[in-house]
Amino acid sequence: MRALCTFILLTFCINGFGEDSDKRKIYLYLEGRAVFEEMCIQCHGKYGKGDGEWAKDWTENRPRNFREGVFKFRTTPLGKLPTDEDLKRTISKGISGTAMPAFGKHLRDSQYDAVIEYLKHLSRKWKDPENAAKPLVIPSQPDWVKSTEDREAKLVQAKELFTKNCASCHGETGKGDGPAGLQLMDIWGFPVKPADFSKKHYKSGDRYEDVYRTIALGLDGTPMVGFHGLMSEEEIWSLVVYVFSLRNNN
Ligand code: HEC
Ligand code: HEC
Repeated sequence: MRALCTFILLTFCINGFGEDSDKRKIYLYLEGRAVFEEMCIQCHGKYGKGDGEWAKDWTENRPRNFREGVFKFRTTPLGKLPTDEDLKRTISKGISGTAMPAFGKHLRDSQYDAVIEYLKHLSRKWKDPENAAKPLVIPSQPDWVKSTEDREAKLVQAKELFTKNCASCHGETGKGDGPAGLQLMDIWGFPVKPADFSKKHYKSGDRYEDVYRTIALGLDGTPMVGFHGLMSEEEIWSLVVYVFSLRNNN
């Protein structure tokens, strides 16, 4: 019986990988499944639906449901799948302020590769190359970002941009309490609150580049859209600096 099951599973895997499959992918998939079952299902659920035992009653910051193939943390445009590096960054660094742990050195490189391969089998979206895209190259920081005086001057303009484009959800002082942000839902059907910028750590990371990425490309599946193409690089950088100026560093 066990041999039969393994045979059926392997046949399924081989077919699942299509014509350009190779043995390495099958081993990766099987190792990835083992990692997922040991370290991820408690929250993400046996079938990756985000409904694991620990998370059943959580009302916000729920574990991702991987079946939809929609990802918040990407360097790719809104609506596209993340790159392997994006997934690795999230899994190794975790998501601040949520239950998503930073796996760091708890996983070996080969285990990262394996669990990433496994995640790609949880949604059909990964099979269509149309859903893949090149990552956005984050433009380098303008010179004024490095000078305290120039930064202060930019904040005046940035505040205006923020009031016009962001305050409705994030609130005038960036505490996540804007009138339009009170009853937002994500596409998975759960409430989601606009980020509170006075927090010490941000979900997408604590470097200026991480916040640039989020403002430019948005957090898919949530009302946080991307502003790439709608604002100039200079404007996005000024908002990055503005967001950090709201951080409570005490
Ligand atoms: C203790 C609970 C918990 C465990 C264990 C856990 N996660 Fe998560 N994970 C979460 C939560 C909660 C989120 C969503 C946070 C959010 O949306 O802001 C998340 C989000 C993610 C995301 C982000 C997807 C996106 O939208 O960009 C990835 C990738 C991920 N988890 C992978 C994993 C993998 C792989 C494992 C196991 C090695 C794992 N998680 C284990 C709770 C957990
Ligand atoms: C329609 C409401 C809405 C508007 C308008 C909006 N946001 Fe957001 N934003 C959100 C929500 C909701 C989240 C949290 C999503 C989550 O946690 O999954 C968020 C998250 C963020 C984050 C991520 C913070 C972190 O912890 O990593 C940044 C940065 C951000 N917004 C910046 C901005 C800026 C700058 C603007 C204006 C240019 C803006 N947002 C406009 C709703 C909005």
